[in-house]
Amino acid sequence: MKLDNPNFNALYMYTKALSVALGYRDVLTRLHSERVQNLSASLGTAYGLNDEELAALKIAASFHDVGKIGIPDHILLKPAKFDEYEWEKMKQHSEIGEKIIASTELDGAEHAARVIRHHHENYDGSGYPDGLAGTSISVCSRIITIADNYDAMAVTRSYHNAKTHPEVMQIMREETGRKHDPELMRLFCEIIETSPYKTTMA
Ligand SMILES: [Fe+2]
Repeated sequence: MKLDNPNFNALYMYTKALSVALGYRDVLTRLHSERVQNLSASLGTAYGLNDEELAALKIAASFHDVGKIGIPDHILLKPAKFDEYEWEKMKQHSEIGEKIIASTELDGAEHAARVIRHHHENYDGSGYPDGLAGTSISVCSRIITIADNYDAMAVTRSYHNAKTHPEVMQIMREETGRKHDPELMRLFCEIIETSPYKTTMA
């Protein structure tokens, strides 16, 4: 990946090593992160984010799940639904990811760390960890939520089979306003049709 903003390059290089490390434990999360990064960058560009926001978005999207490195294997790799305890543990990955990125103290780290912390917030305030709503969630986090959800449903995981493109879009439309920002979803519906990351399962 190339960043147009050189201030963020050191942060990107440092953090890349961690995502490679995570890939050795959970290769699916690593591949998912690469697709989320590309989908998020397209959506951020279409939305008209400035250079600095785009750089923070690309870093946060690439490493949004890096906090999974702190989740025990029996939960991270469980091929079935989580019980309540496991779910609470798994939810900690957004805050662990925030702490990992912020600890570098590099340029842009604080910005990217905050975006990672909030990648599971929902537009109506029902998400975690802070229950933020609407535009109190940074636009970069709202973008990652959309890209993350699309790819999670479009690709087969150990605990569910891939859905077709129309099925995924139907679910995401139903979740617009609750989970997703309506304005960003309108843009996403346009860009996904010509994206190389659109699932070929029709
Ligand atoms: Fe996540």
